[in-house]
Amino acid sequence: MNKQVYLDYHATTPVDPRVLDAMLPYLKDSFGNASSKTHPYGWAAREAVEKARSQVGSLLNASPGEIYFTGGATESNNISLLGAALHAPAERNHIITQSTEHHAVLDPLRKLEKDGWRLTVLHPDSEGFISAEALGSALDEHTFLVSIMAANNEIGTVQPLDELGRVAAEAGALLHCDAAQAAGKIRLDVESSAISMLSLSGHKFCAPKGVGALYRRKRGNRVRLAPLALGGGQEEGLRPGTLNVPGIVGLGEACRIAAEELEEEAQRVGRLRDLLLDGIRRGIPDVTVNGPADTDKKLPGNLSLSFKGVDGSALIVSLGDLAASAGSACTAGNAEPSYVLKAIGTPMELAVSTLRLGLGRFTTEEEVTYAIDRIIETVGKLRRVR
Ligand SMILES: Cc1ncc(COP(=O)(O)O)c(C=O)c1O
Repeated sequence: MNKQVYLDYHATTPVDPRVLDAMLPYLKDSFGNASSKTHPYGWAAREAVEKARSQVGSLLNASPGEIYFTGGATESNNISLLGAALHAPAERNHIITQSTEHHAVLDPLRKLEKDGWRLTVLHPDSEGFISAEALGSALDEHTFLVSIMAANNEIGTVQPLDELGRVAAEAGALLHCDAAQAAGKIRLDVESSAISMLSLSGHKFCAPKGVGALYRRKRGNRVRLAPLALGGGQEEGLRPGTLNVPGIVGLGEACRIAAEELEEEAQRVGRLRDLLLDGIRRGIPDVTVNGPADTDKKLPGNLSLSFKGVDGSALIVSLGDLAASAGSACTAGNAEPSYVLKAIGTPMELAVSTLRLGLGRFTTEEEVTYAIDRIIETVGKLRRVR
């Protein structure tokens, strides 16, 4: 194989050609500003944005009017967490999250803690799960908000959202869900999971970078949100600024594709992931899988492996033409072991010998076979030079 093999789908994904095709007209002739009301350029852009809003809503079982376009999951998380806090009733001053959340959730919540909020950080079990019981015992009559991700970006753990949502709702707390890794890969349903706010990001499921969405519940227990930025009043004033029309169209198309093909793709990608694991295990001893053992409770494309006695950074460098990650993309290059692996109790010597492989839409069986050989060969070499 004379090209790079990309196995880092948790970090980002290539744009699907169908997504690119849907976007191109809005980068060329239909370049209008969706806020321009006086001519066809603006009308066409507005129509495209509203179509995309419906497509995003459909994927989540939400109404189009509950979807707001943003620049990605980091921004959606910040608007959800900080924006909701600004409207919290005085007697609800408690927030619950878990230690394996992404920094785009942990950092805004740490800020709220500094501002005087009581923050409970739950520790997941050894596979990364938060149980309904664990959440139930942390909730009290002062809990305003619970923020639990749909799926983890390192170990792929898919949380039992329906149960967590039910428990949070019974306590009168809002549930925010960072679905950056889950959206487009597994079914999400804001109704069955009683989700109040949800964040997603286009570049994690074959739409471009720099576009995302925020779901905010309006039906039933309506969520009040204050904007973090002020300006032109777009997106009901919640996310002002000229809309990224081509990006939004791309995100909409990615949601349409996911809504239609998600189950089939999950099966195909899951099979390739299992093939990859089997092949590696057959070739080398002492391989530990991090995250859920039950592959039904794990993202289909996720494989986090620790190779006893092998330095993770040396492994990544030696793998050369195989693009993967030693930890999460955001902390790559940092010699500290991943805080997610630490949180689930992975021993230090294994945490520093971890490779995160992410498979996705364009991963082929040929690439998987190649990756198996490269990993077996490289781990073997590194173990021999110890
Ligand atoms: C779980 C999770 N949340 C949030 C983000 C941030 O997303 P974005 O790049 O869209 O800001 C990421 C990206 O790595 C992620 O994996």
